[in-house]
Amino acid sequence: MKQTRVIAVLNQKGGVGKTTTTLNLVHGLARKGYDVLAIDLDPQGQLTSSLGLIKRDIEGLEKAMLNGTPLVSVTYPVRENLKLVPAGYGLTEVEEKTEGGVARGKLLKNTLETIKGKYDFILIDCPPSSGLLVVNALFAVNEVVIPMTGDYLALQGLSHLMATLKNFEKALGNTYKQWIVLGRYQARRRLAQEVKEKLKQYFANSMLLTEISESVLLAESPSFGKTIFEYKPSSRSAKEFESLVDDLIIGRTY
Ligand SMILES: Nc1ncnc2c1ncn2[C@@H]1O[C@H](COP(=O)(O)OP(=O)(O)O)[C@@H](O)[C@H]1O
Ligand SMILES: [Mg+2]
Repeated sequence: MKQTRVIAVLNQKGGVGKTTTTLNLVHGLARKGYDVLAIDLDPQGQLTSSLGLIKRDIEGLEKAMLNGTPLVSVTYPVRENLKLVPAGYGLTEVEEKTEGGVARGKLLKNTLETIKGKYDFILIDCPPSSGLLVVNALFAVNEVVIPMTGDYLALQGLSHLMATLKNFEKALGNTYKQWIVLGRYQARRRLAQEVKEKLKQYFANSMLLTEISESVLLAESPSFGKTIFEYKPSSRSAKEFESLVDDLIIGRTY
């Protein structure tokens, strides 16, 4: 039995780099020899397609969450040491589920119980919402990675997210390990520097040391179904993600 770290990549704001971060973290961890499971919790299925799996016709997470299909039968090997539970059609139905009471929020947690201990890391790419899918993620994990961009609206969004996490912590009676990742970073923009300073000031203990720079390579690689390590292994972005992987492994913050 492994000590599995179960981590949600989370931010209710869209376009902040959740999927990009998940994609390259899971592959970076797998390349280091860890057994990794990636879970695509976003009905848009962008993590699924970024890993080169075509969403059409495949059954995914919704079968395990709604139909009681064993998670292993919707788990697909996508790279060495890396498996994926894709988002299939029908995952949106979870968001709209009205019956089931509190149990609705624990569908993911329950299905993960069956495979916990088989992996070193399970990473969950969350949708840009704060609906029932994200509630499911929050019940299932004890760590969250929060991708952030260097602008003020993102900062505002972060305090909202932190409040949500606090509420959950109170309800669940435990705390999340929180990791903030500054992504799409443009070192020459003064605003980005200011946001970084603010984050360091308030969240030093949760802010991972490596920031991910804005780079067109990171935006291009998913359209080829490749991670940055496959698309441009010698790039600065690949080096940054390699370093971010180490940050996450050892909890290296400011
Ligand atoms: N560091 C980066 N540099 C350049 N483009 C990025 C970077 N991170 C993400 N992107 C691009 O920004 C868009 C949103 O990123 P994505 O990871 O899909 O965010 P989210 O999952 O939070 O909605 C995508 O087109 C993605 O390719
Ligand atoms: Mg996404």
